Amino acid sequence: MKGIILAGGTGTRLRPMTNIINKHLLPVGKYPMIHYAIHKMTDAGVNDILLITGKQSAGIYAEYIGSGEAFGARVSYRVQEHAGGIAHALEMAEAFVAPREKLLVLLGDNLFEDSLRLAVEEFCARGEGAHVFLKKVDDPKAYGVPEIVDGRIVKIVEKPDTPSCDYAVTGLYMYDSSVFDIIRTLKPSARGEMEITDVNNVYARQGKLTHSMLCGWWTDAGTHNALLEAGTRMIGRDEA
Ligand code: G1P
Repeated sequence: MKGIILAGGTGTRLRPMTNIINKHLLPVGKYPMIHYAIHKMTDAGVNDILLITGKQSAGIYAEYIGSGEAFGARVSYRVQEHAGGIAHALEMAEAFVAPREKLLVLLGDNLFEDSLRLAVEEFCARGEGAHVFLKKVDDPKAYGVPEIVDGRIVKIVEKPDTPSCDYAVTGLYMYDSSVFDIIRTLKPSARGEMEITDVNNVYARQGKLTHSMLCGWWTDAGTHNALLEAGTRMIGRDEA
């Protein structure tokens, strides 16, 4: 299995700091945010990782992570010329993934407690499809929200006005390699982005989307409050 960490984007909700540095390099506890995604990958047994960033601060990622050796990983880099949405960034990973190889995809601003090791092992053992991780949240309108019927996700609605439940689809995904064929069929959404939710909905329509719940805490550290919360949780932790 290959690991893909998406760490581009403009970080508008974290301005003005993100005017001068990419969001995923902001401090969370004693490390830059990106540290945790790499750690979660290796913890899950995924050591061959592609980091996709924007042009902003691109050199600082290489300075901090280097080859990945200090993390027990092999880290490669791709730079996205323009932010075009999560699915657009993910498409850049196609050449990195072998035919029929599976992928673990993490959004670099998603910070969480659970280990993904077991879920990764189970996903690798199964045939095809995709898997998402859900978490109960207070403000589902800010996320992709699943519609669950008889224990299966039938549809995900991105940032719904009237959420059907109080679960968020977190930014942790597992895919088979058909994800790239799916991305090619997508059109940009109303906000002008290639949405990962549209990718997941193709799998849902095909009956190939499974899900599980995160047990521990989870946050999308994309706002000042969430960043502060994440830092408070992580401070003093040694994620060596
Ligand atoms: C993205 C996804 C959304 C998901 C969220 C998790 O939203 O589009 O479905 O719930 O990440 O962090 P964004 O943060 O790009 O608005």
